[in-house]
Amino acid sequence: MVMGLAPAEFREAMGCFATGVTIVTVDLDGEVHGMTANAFASVSMDPLLILVCVDHRARTHAHLHAKKRFGINILAEGQRPISEYYARPVYTHERAEQEAGARFDRTAQGTPILHGALAYLDCRLQSAQEAGDHTIFIAEVENVVVRQGEPLLFFRAQYRKIGKEVAGERQKKGPAPSEGVAGPEGLTDV
Ligand SMILES: Cc1cc2nc3c(=O)[nH]c(=O)nc-3n(C[C@H](O)[C@H](O)[C@H](O)COP(=O)(O)O)c2cc1C
Repeated sequence: MVMGLAPAEFREAMGCFATGVTIVTVDLDGEVHGMTANAFASVSMDPLLILVCVDHRARTHAHLHAKKRFGINILAEGQRPISEYYARPVYTHERAEQEAGARFDRTAQGTPILHGALAYLDCRLQSAQEAGDHTIFIAEVENVVVRQGEPLLFFRAQYRKIGKEVAGERQKKGPAPSEGVAGPEGLTDV
């Protein structure tokens, strides 16, 4: 650790890394438990693995260890109230629909799928690695649902929506002379 680095500085630096926002969902004997998380990443293509980092103090931490099956719901642009709702340490989530408009379907295994999310990943826990005050939960992705739409983003502790595409060199120069034909480097334009 760098001497003198304050947690607030670390947090500020990490806040520069723009992310999407997810809700981790777990079935608790018929009740839906959800937690807002952005420490989520793709890990492996073979097998298909993702990770999510969960604070030891979060109730979700115990639930993931106990249930070993969970959903990752990638939020759409209009779902900020759902992110805020599931970031609050409330005792139950009985009023999720009235307060945040969160409604759920169920997978065949009973895992809750959030209505209107941009994507859903059905996850089975593979391993859990302790890392400081968090645990890295690594899970195999058994199924996905993908929908059209724009994502909710989180950047410097603020919710954002996606902006314009940043043009690459090729786009700046205009269209390639012959679309879809192999160029001098043997690369094919797509
Ligand atoms: C945008 C955002 C992202 C968050 N990401 C995480 C995360 O990746 N891991 C985590 O443990 N907590 C994260 N949190 C905090 C949890 O959502 C919060 O502590 C929640 O109350 C825990 O719920 P639980 O105790 O019901 O599990 C995040 C909060 C926000 C607003």
